[in-house]
Amino acid sequence: MNQDLMEKIVALSKRRGFIYPGSEIYGGLANTYDYGPLGTELLRNIRNLWWKYFVQERSDMVGLDSSIISHHRVWEASGHVAGFADAMVDCRNCKARMRADQLIENFKGEKVEGKSPEDLDKIILENDDIVCPNCHKHEFTKVRKFNLLFPVQLGIVEGEGGEAYLRGETAQGIFINFKNVADSTRVRLPFGIAQIGKSFRNEITPGNSIFRTIEFEQGEIEYFFDPDSSTWEELFEKWKGQIWNFVTQELGVKAENVKWREHDDRERSFYSKKTEDLEYNFPFGFKELWGLAYRTNYDLTNHSEVSKQDLTIVDPMTNKKILPHVIEPAVGLNRLLLMILVDAYTQEENRIVLKLDPKLAPYKLAVFPLVANKPELLDKARSIYDSLKPKFMTAWDDRGNIGKRYLSQDEAGTPYAVTIDYQTLEDDTVTIRDRDTASQERIRVSEISSYVMDNLT
Ligand code: GAP
Repeated sequence: MNQDLMEKIVALSKRRGFIYPGSEIYGGLANTYDYGPLGTELLRNIRNLWWKYFVQERSDMVGLDSSIISHHRVWEASGHVAGFADAMVDCRNCKARMRADQLIENFKGEKVEGKSPEDLDKIILENDDIVCPNCHKHEFTKVRKFNLLFPVQLGIVEGEGGEAYLRGETAQGIFINFKNVADSTRVRLPFGIAQIGKSFRNEITPGNSIFRTIEFEQGEIEYFFDPDSSTWEELFEKWKGQIWNFVTQELGVKAENVKWREHDDRERSFYSKKTEDLEYNFPFGFKELWGLAYRTNYDLTNHSEVSKQDLTIVDPMTNKKILPHVIEPAVGLNRLLLMILVDAYTQEENRIVLKLDPKLAPYKLAVFPLVANKPELLDKARSIYDSLKPKFMTAWDDRGNIGKRYLSQDEAGTPYAVTIDYQTLEDDTVTIRDRDTASQERIRVSEISSYVMDNLT
C-alpha cells in the first residue's frame, strides 16, 4: 500500500475542492463524501464522456433514467433481499466492524470473496496474525451476514405495505423497464439500455476515500441479445475491447495500470455465468474498477415470474418470442474519478501537476492579468475572460505573483494559462502556458479559442 501517495491525493482533493468528507462540520458521516467545485466539474466531464461514448456515438444504445426508490418486490425478484449481503465480523475489544473477506485478504493477500461465513470464521480462528486494523487485537466475534440494501418506509403509517428500497444497483431499473423501452422505441436486438445514476449500499469499508461509499453513482449497460442469433462469448470480448478503449483512450489512463481479472466460480455473483473485472492499480493495490458480466436472462425471467407480466419481445422477421439474455458492463463513476486523480497525480521537483486529459480538466484555461493594480490591464484581461467563459470553463486569478498562480492551476489540472501583459495592450497578443511542459508562446487574442479547442478533441 502506497499510503503516502494516497494521503497526498486525499489532501490535494480537499485543499483544491475536488472531494470533501461528508457532513464534516458535524464530525463527518462514515463512507460519505461531497464533491467541491473542481470535483463537480470533473465528475460531470466523466459522466458526459461516458454517455457520448456508450450512447450518443452508437446506433444500438438508448438511455434511461429510472427512479432511485423502487417497489420491494423488484428487489425480492432480483434476489437482492435474500442474497445481497456481506460477511462481517466485529472486534470484541474496540467494537470496530469490518468485512471478513477484506480483513483476511489484507493479511493473507489471497482472494477469499464468496467463501461461506463458516469458512471465513475458520481462517480467522486459525491465523493469530490476523488482527483488528484499529486496535491490533485478535479478538473477533463470529462472522455474520449483513444485507446491503437500504429499506425506506413510504407514507406516514408503518406496516401498511409502504416498504420500498433505495436501489442497490441501477441495473434493476433497466430490467423492469425493458418492455417499456422495447414498446416505445424502434430498438431491435441486439441493443443496449444505458443508465447513469445513484445507487446505495449499506457498506462498511476500510476508508480508501471515495473508492467504496454507501452512496455512489453507477454507469450501467444491459446489452440485450437473442442467444440463438448472437454468441455471448463474442459480445463479451467486444465489450472488453470497448471498456479498455474508453479507459485508456478516452480517459487517457496509462495502459500499464489496468488489467483484466476473471472471477472464479466461488467469487462470481449468483446471477452470472462469466464475470471479468477491469482492475486499476490504486495506491492500495489492483482493485475492481469495472465489472463485465454475462447475466443470462436470469433477471428478466425472475421479473416475469414474480410480476406475472410477459416480458418477451417478438422478432418481427420470424415471429419468435424472445426473452433476451444480457451482457452487463457496470462501473462506478466515482471510482473512475479516483482512478483519474491517481493516474494524473505527478510530483515534480518544484510542483505538483495533475496531468489530466484536457477533455477531463475542470477548467480548460485560466486567465491572469500580469498585475492587479493597473486598471487598463485588468479591464483587458476581464474582457478576454468574459469572451472565453461562454465557450469553456475558464478560471480567473489576479492574486499573488504569476509563478504562484501557475502552480495553483497546475494542481487543479488546468491545461492552459493565458497572461495579459503590457504587450497585450499594444499588439493584442497574450502568452499561453502549457501545464505539462511549462513552456510559453505568444498568440493573438483571437486565436485563444481555437488553440484550446484543438486540444480538446
Ligand atoms: N449491476 C452490477 C453491479 O452493480 P457491482 O460489481 O456490484 O455490479 C459495479 O458494481 C461497479 O460499481 C463496480 O465495479 C464499482 O466500480 C462500482 N461500485 C460498486 N459498489 C460501490 C461502492 N460501494 N462505492 C463506489 N463504487 C461502487
